[in-house]
Amino acid sequence: MAVMPDELFANSWTPDSWRSRTAAQQPEWPDEEAVSATLEEIGRLPPLVFAGEARTLTDSLAAAQEGRAFLLVAGDCAESFNDFSANSIRDKLRVILQMSVVLTYGSGVPTIKVGRLAGQFSKPRSAPTETRDDVTLPSFRGDTVNDFAFEAAARRPDPSRMLRGYHQSAATLNLVRAFAKGGFADLSRIHMWNQEFVASSQQGQQYEALASEIERALRFMEACGIDLEAELQLHQVDVFTAHEALLLGFEQALTRRDTLSPSGDWYDCSAHLLWCGERTRALDGAHVEFLSGIHNPVGVKLGPDATPEEAVALCERLNPGRQAGRLVLFSRMGADRITESLSPLVRAVKLANHPVVWACDPMHGNTFQAESGYKTRRFSDIMRELHGFFAVCEANDIPPGGVHIELTGDDVTECLGGTDEVLDAHLERRYETMCDPRLNARQSLDLAFEIAGLLRR
Ligand code: PEP
Ligand code: CO
Repeated sequence: MAVMPDELFANSWTPDSWRSRTAAQQPEWPDEEAVSATLEEIGRLPPLVFAGEARTLTDSLAAAQEGRAFLLVAGDCAESFNDFSANSIRDKLRVILQMSVVLTYGSGVPTIKVGRLAGQFSKPRSAPTETRDDVTLPSFRGDTVNDFAFEAAARRPDPSRMLRGYHQSAATLNLVRAFAKGGFADLSRIHMWNQEFVASSQQGQQYEALASEIERALRFMEACGIDLEAELQLHQVDVFTAHEALLLGFEQALTRRDTLSPSGDWYDCSAHLLWCGERTRALDGAHVEFLSGIHNPVGVKLGPDATPEEAVALCERLNPGRQAGRLVLFSRMGADRITESLSPLVRAVKLANHPVVWACDPMHGNTFQAESGYKTRRFSDIMRELHGFFAVCEANDIPPGGVHIELTGDDVTECLGGTDEVLDAHLERRYETMCDPRLNARQSLDLAFEIAGLLRR
């Protein structure tokens, strides 16, 4: 990727200025008029999140950048229209809350909880088409574009799916907000779930010491006269949302002026945090153009081929004002390359004096095809990449700002290993993801306890 000169970006930003640039990974919609009609309709619908909430997240991320908070982004690789139920949302949120208690105890700082949900539908693909036997069809690009079923009619991109995605996101957010504020997120209840996890398996018992320390801390607070049930702080939590801003027409339709700020800044009100992926982060491309003008906090995924010059140029482009909490860089290098690939980027960004949250996505660099044919990831590789990430941060004297995990609350068998020792032969039992393999609830908690151990050092 060539690094572009500054004058290329001198033009003024508008919500549709991305349209004059190359947008990678867009569907080939068969009917452009239908797309425009759908986007106009979405443009008239209410925002899903509010600018003030996005600003709160920016403030929290500014703390993470200094080591005073820790970011947890977690959820499905791709949300699904079919797997949509109150129970699945509840169980996903439950795992995120359980992880966050463990992480907070390990780090001693608040965990910023960001769900990869309520809008994480569209996917970049490594190839535009998929061939099975003699049949070639468009690749599945996520439920807001086409259907997963390998049939010609199902794979045809259909813009009305974006509208359905909007409504499912609204319903998801409604439930998440209710759970977060309605007592479900009660600290002692979450701790009880964690104790159940630790007690219920021999492997889980390796975390008993940490779990009983948390128990003692809670009892200590109670003994001091702090009523955990009554304390609002422990009873309610903030849960933010995030997704890859891939379908730019959809994102533009939800981009609104903040009527409360005197400058009338633009916010993409489809989620609190938006990111561009490893395949859509071209410096002169449409995705980076779009993200450069919205005032939400934004993220960029950086894979092993990213150069230090590119990393710094992306910082310049997305955060020229060097605002704290504005930019998260998600390293996704792979366990074998993390040290050599991440270190030069961290050093260059630091030298350029750019404030960023460095976070680790230990999932996307560690995907491979198992002998059984399933696309999977090893828990041990995920942990190895996390260890590498923490080591690079320590060596460069920067705080490890957070993690980005693909998980589900369901008892799926998609990733290998973990305390429940999923083997290749088990993958077929419950392999339900439409895209990348996710950690199940036990593996996610396992991961949280391991990260807590790293954070305590
Ligand atoms: C993802 O987060 O699902 C994804 C596609 O990531 P990346 O852009 O890092 O490959
Ligand atoms: Co993924």
